Amino acid sequence: MSTARVNALMAQMTTEEKIGQLIQLSADFFQNGQAEITGPMQDKNLTLDIVYSAGSVLGISGAEQVKNIQKDFIEHNRLHIPLLFMADVVHGYQTIYPIPLGLGATFNPELVRQTSEVAARESAAGGVHVTFAPMVDLVRDPRWGRVMESTGEDPYLNSVLAKASVDGYQGDLPLDKEHIAACVKHFAAYGAPEAGREYNTVDLSEWRFREQYLPAYAAAIEAQAMLVMTSFNTLFGVPATVNQHLMRDILRDELNFDGVLISDWDAISEVISHGVAADLAKAADLALTAGVDIDMMSFAYAKYLEKASKIDEKTLNLINEAATRVLELKEKLGLFEDPYRGLDVNAEAKEVYSSTNLAVAQRAAEESIVLLKNEADILPLQKSMKLALVGPVVATNDLLGSWSWQGERREKETLAQVFDKNFENIQVEAGCNYHSSDSISEQQAVAAAEKQDVIVAFIGLPSSDSGEATSKTDINVPKEQLALLEKLVTLNKPIISVVVTGRPLDLRRVSELSDAVVVAWFPGSKGAVAIENILDGTVSPSGKLPMTFPRNIGQVPIYYNSYRTGRPITNTPEDDINKYQSKYLDCDNSPLYSFGFGLSYAKLGIKSVDIINDNVNDEQPLVLEVTVINESDFSAKNTLQCYTHQLTGETVRPVKELKQFKKLTFAANSEQKVQITIAKDLLSNVHTDLNCYVDSGKYEVMVGFDSDNVITKSFKVE
Ligand code: GLC
Repeated sequence: MSTARVNALMAQMTTEEKIGQLIQLSADFFQNGQAEITGPMQDKNLTLDIVYSAGSVLGISGAEQVKNIQKDFIEHNRLHIPLLFMADVVHGYQTIYPIPLGLGATFNPELVRQTSEVAARESAAGGVHVTFAPMVDLVRDPRWGRVMESTGEDPYLNSVLAKASVDGYQGDLPLDKEHIAACVKHFAAYGAPEAGREYNTVDLSEWRFREQYLPAYAAAIEAQAMLVMTSFNTLFGVPATVNQHLMRDILRDELNFDGVLISDWDAISEVISHGVAADLAKAADLALTAGVDIDMMSFAYAKYLEKASKIDEKTLNLINEAATRVLELKEKLGLFEDPYRGLDVNAEAKEVYSSTNLAVAQRAAEESIVLLKNEADILPLQKSMKLALVGPVVATNDLLGSWSWQGERREKETLAQVFDKNFENIQVEAGCNYHSSDSISEQQAVAAAEKQDVIVAFIGLPSSDSGEATSKTDINVPKEQLALLEKLVTLNKPIISVVVTGRPLDLRRVSELSDAVVVAWFPGSKGAVAIENILDGTVSPSGKLPMTFPRNIGQVPIYYNSYRTGRPITNTPEDDINKYQSKYLDCDNSPLYSFGFGLSYAKLGIKSVDIINDNVNDEQPLVLEVTVINESDFSAKNTLQCYTHQLTGETVRPVKELKQFKKLTFAANSEQKVQITIAKDLLSNVHTDLNCYVDSGKYEVMVGFDSDNVITKSFKVE
């Protein structure tokens, strides 16, 4: 329902001005504090008048710059309608916290909420009104470079963290000046491109889309995300950006989303490439009919300006609908009262890298780190140990990852500095680059390692190997880095491999060559400190894999919540004699490391799982009491995970589905009882009529510290 002010404004606006509100321009059009038609933009047939009637801009931040541009813009806009400033603040504005795949590994919604709140405070002070986050695309294919932007392969974990992130960015509504609007993306199912190839076809049954991919978007919208961004891909045979069933029936009607729908960059014009629109005018009509309110940099909606006086009534109504939503967003942001809202040069300087914000980033980095192997408890390291720090990351300190907005590329604290501060004797020799090496560098690394007790190898990929347009067919650790490990292993000294990556990698050989393996993702501004704190035992690792790590690329897509098939393996000797099962000739079905897996320094075990209530109905949830023992001197956080399996259903049911998790601190040498409840509605599933509801019948619940090693109990739903 639009407000009186918006209605009054719309009544004053010309058709051209309404169309202007639907146009989003890039920073190229606003240089030196004012609108400019620079070289690359000259072929867009835009006049300065059009630029000054645009509704929003993306890619600009910084209090001083935004203030100057906004001031100039309002002076030149006939009705003084302020500009919306949007930006890709995906995992931090300038204080950078772990990439979202690392945040997924924290299994800590409250911490994720805090990271988004840090980003909101810095962004709002820096003049940003809307962030293009959270990205909640469910992902199951490490060939796709944007898995780094997702919290992983599970619908429930992604839903919980999507809500947490929206809550962090937006705070309690109405929005205050320290928070910003969240734009959940990319609607929908961009994370399922065939063969993991960027921008490739997505073709899911609507049943699977609703069962696995839709829940996280729905959770973000239920959390009141104020914008949604369309995705580049097709879905159900139609490009998402012009897909009426997806955008009108599902997003607007079923999910009751009445916020602003913005296209991804140039996505409207790409409908021509998809072969669904003959030209830009047709693409514009299709997108407007589907309910896309803002055209990001395709200039399709600018085509309406050429015929503004001759637009038919239906199109005019759609333009009015879209322009009203854009103006309502500006009103919700308080821009009509104060076009500069939270923007403040001093506040920005105070917020960015504040000790509070860095502390949140550090905690998130520490809790994102996953310990995959720890042979003979070689970790944590003793401070008296003499260390050799090797590997390409130790030279680059590239710890921020892709999409790290204004984050400074070279962190203030490098790995060498942090380890030097904490250990008596370290030698630093990279030994190779990410994708290249030379014998001299290798020899220097080997020589350095020869003098030390323990080798810490910082290996993996550069930021540029993940993020948009970085699909890879090979998920091995680069051969130059494996070659270095092969040489180092001849020294017969313990090797700790710290893998810095934006995607799951094939870690078979790394695991064979290393006594311990740690995945640090891209941990952000406090990444070096976080890694050191984990390796020296200041903090026990608590991260859990949010995405399966395959044995090799041939298994992909591989994910834990798979379906049984008609010929499942039985994990009994029968598997060795029965060839007619769902398996490979040359590889085990199991991954190298499973979803939810991550070791701790504490010796934690589940002593018992007692069912308090095993007869679930609308009033009575499933209630469990789990007794956990910690038989070590380490006090440590860890995540108890609860999976359920519906024994029979109208459609096939995953072998297990995460339905609850609790991240708790388990005190040293303790026994702790943990109560866990799973409400009936969490057991709902999508039926052949595409309706989602809970089936009565027999279920199993599996409890563990990962998705494999679980204790199973039965229960039923009335
Ligand atoms: C990019 C990305 C999207 C981003 C937008 C603006 O192409 O797909 O995630 O928010 O353009 O930079």
